Amino acid sequence: MELTATLKNELESIYNSLLNDERVLQMKSIPMHKGSNCYIHSFKVAKRAIKVALKYKKELKLKALLYASILHDYYLYDWRVDKSKRSKHLYTHAELAVKQAKRDFEISDEIAEIMISHMWPVDLKYYPHTKEAKILVNADNYVATKEFMTTKKYKQKREDEYLKEIMNLF
Ligand SMILES: [Fe+2]
Ligand SMILES: [Fe+2]
Repeated sequence: MELTATLKNELESIYNSLLNDERVLQMKSIPMHKGSNCYIHSFKVAKRAIKVALKYKKELKLKALLYASILHDYYLYDWRVDKSKRSKHLYTHAELAVKQAKRDFEISDEIAEIMISHMWPVDLKYYPHTKEAKILVNADNYVATKEFMTTKKYKQKREDEYLKEIMNLF
């Protein structure tokens, strides 16, 4: 789909406002797969999701997809430390992320719907019905697999480098 100048500006402003938002910055303290953290992971997923969405001919809801991608893992706890959450994390964190995102941001139903099914098919409770939701599932898997399969070299990359990559989203 075509990215008009207006839409590009809107996306950039959503992106930049969330990038420096202190609530979103809390995700930096949540470790993820090898050397990544929840903040870096989420922006990488957003980058991938938007890149894929722009290849579609059909008009997609890019603003909702961007919001949903950045906040899809807004669960704000470390399951490696909090043993009570460890066993259920895969099946509960999407719901919690939606709940907390609704509490802290103005999240539309459209955004919540994209977020809630991001763990499909691990969690079969919520099916990704829309194209945007499917794109998020795939982008999350793509980034998580890359993070998981990575070598030591990846771990040593400095956070600044990731952030620089993230800044060049559009
Ligand atoms: Fe997740
Ligand atoms: Fe994720």
